[in-house]
Amino acid sequence: MTEPYCDPHPNPAGIKRVAVLTSGGDAPGMNAAIRAVVRTATSQGIEVIGVRRGFSGLHRGDFITLGPRDVANTLQRGGTILLSARSHTWRTPEGRARGARHLRAHDVDALIVIGGDGSFHGAHFLQKEHGIPVIGLPGTIDNDLYGTDHTIGYFTAVETALDAVDKLRDTGASHERIFVIEVMGRHAGHIALDVAVAGGAEEVFIPEDAKEVAGVLDIVKASVKKGKMGSIIIVAEGYPGGATGVAKAIEDGTGMETRVSILGHIQRGGSPVSSDRILASRLGEAAVYALMEGRSDVMVGRQNHGTSFTPLADTWEKRKDVSRDLYRCAKTLSI
Ligand code: F6P
Repeated sequence: MTEPYCDPHPNPAGIKRVAVLTSGGDAPGMNAAIRAVVRTATSQGIEVIGVRRGFSGLHRGDFITLGPRDVANTLQRGGTILLSARSHTWRTPEGRARGARHLRAHDVDALIVIGGDGSFHGAHFLQKEHGIPVIGLPGTIDNDLYGTDHTIGYFTAVETALDAVDKLRDTGASHERIFVIEVMGRHAGHIALDVAVAGGAEEVFIPEDAKEVAGVLDIVKASVKKGKMGSIIIVAEGYPGGATGVAKAIEDGTGMETRVSILGHIQRGGSPVSSDRILASRLGEAAVYALMEGRSDVMVGRQNHGTSFTPLADTWEKRKDVSRDLYRCAKTLSI
């Protein structure tokens, strides 16, 4: 333990060394969160170990030491300098026991996991079975985590998708075509809804609302009759059948030609926008303080402009709904 550089934060938990990892789908802003963890910890005289390749690196002991200079020039970089993975071994008690042994062998007092609810499952069981304090930070472009208004990476993904939608509108309008555009969101329509409103879409299909494509065919036909120069339909990846299914239903039901564009993993890349950098910086700082205060088995998020702490289990047992106001707004403005 080195001398603190800043005003000391209370450390009743006696944390001297923390580990940090990124897990699951990467998200722009994960590096900003790692940087904030490393620099906050260092400012409090706490050492940081970076675990490479998420939980699969943890059970293999793939560790590096991280100091403030190791995270220089990372704030603006997409992806994750610690690499990420979706680990199957971690789902077994033996895999978690191996990871706990590696953490103990490196004198690690606590673990910070940046990822989604699948990653938080892993963290929760590590704490439950081996008593190692854990904190989750919400890192996923899908914004589908209960207990935080926004997740790290979400704002950037929306900007990336919106940029593509604006471009597709140019070509769609020139040809007076119907473009059906699929955005990411395995189980949630947050990205789709934001992109639909910001991109002026005629319709949006999200997994949270099981409406049938047949029910909106009149809207699609009417939009052409109203003299609209092409139409934009946004579909969340998790809507049954995806963009391809919606496009086929429109073609079958109206006889109109469509074009499908699936934006895919491009939405996970790129330099994080300012809102993601700021969110990640705040959450990284708060995670270290939370561990020092003796908190564990919680996700640190932001709700109503303040820091929030949500039991990790709530993040997969409870569901964050999309904004119903925004859903209504998307419909109102598409006339
Ligand atoms: O991280 C969330 C997400 O991007 C989802 O929107 C998407 O369904 C999934 O990850 C894709 O995962 P993978 O990169 O493993 O194919």
